[in-house]
Amino acid sequence: MKATATAPSNIAFIKYWGRKDEALRLPENGSLSMNLSALQTTTTVEFSPDYTEDYIEINGTRESNESSRAVLHLDRVRALAKISDLAKVVTKNNFPTGTGLSSSASGFAALTVAAAKAAGLDLSEKELSILARQGSGSACRSIPDGFVEWLNANTSDGSYAKSIFPHDYWNIVDIVVITGKEQKDTPTSEGMKRAYSSPFFEQRLQHIETRIIECKKYIKEKNFKLFGELIEQESLEMHAITLTSQPPLIYWHPGTLRVMRAVHLWRQEGLGSYYTINTGHNIHVIVQEKDKEVLAKELSNLEEVNEVIINYPAQGAQLSEQHLF
Ligand code: PMV
Repeated sequence: MKATATAPSNIAFIKYWGRKDEALRLPENGSLSMNLSALQTTTTVEFSPDYTEDYIEINGTRESNESSRAVLHLDRVRALAKISDLAKVVTKNNFPTGTGLSSSASGFAALTVAAAKAAGLDLSEKELSILARQGSGSACRSIPDGFVEWLNANTSDGSYAKSIFPHDYWNIVDIVVITGKEQKDTPTSEGMKRAYSSPFFEQRLQHIETRIIECKKYIKEKNFKLFGELIEQESLEMHAITLTSQPPLIYWHPGTLRVMRAVHLWRQEGLGSYYTINTGHNIHVIVQEKDKEVLAKELSNLEEVNEVIINYPAQGAQLSEQHLF
């Protein structure tokens, strides 16, 4: 059977950094995120006895099957469905490629939902999230709707994401700011292994539960100022871990710092905006709906900024009838 799914990327407000189980992708801590409306992946999967090899195509280019995480993920689905058919997978991102925007969350969420359906599995949202997590950790948060919590657990069955508020609960905006074309040079998996060498990592884990509770409260109350202050501090703290890991990891580029400083300045002038940064030079500026036009324009005017992409809170992964082949 052939099936297609579309899934959003997500931005973490409380970050996943460090894994207590590498193989199962169990994080050291819970995390919170929001699905992104303008960073979406669509994937069509077909299992067939006629295929003689797995075929994976991403944005028009065939991917090598050697050490492919997508093939490993298809193996997980085949094992669950007890089938041995090989698959054709065609996948497209609706956002610019080669800009350092990570597509693994949207990619593995779309692959999980499409492959499970194509293999004849009837999985719950929780089961899909657990499966997606094994492909790429943050992908488990792209399965449920809107604002999402990935629960902290010591077992695979307990480590899944669930919606805490629907996408239309709070109309905040994430302006994704592209500050360069380079891809990141150190993969996230490698960065996470190094986290344990930072003298601050243990301390981070000690207060992260409290921070998750606070962040959920501020989202619930729609308290933009306290929410913004907390997520910016949280992002800087994750980067304090990467900066003090051995060997150190510096993800920021001059353009990233330029935007960080501009956001601080705009805040002093009364324009409420806060940033959060993942493992790359691009930066997410979180603003209120009423300020989005003026801030998108200000950001676009910065010399170091190539492009801005406006995102609203979005639904999670969905099946679709619009097959790609
Ligand atoms: O799921 P991964 O392996 O792409 O890791 C995501 C790590 C961060 O983006 C830095 C934080 C997060 O929670 O998304």
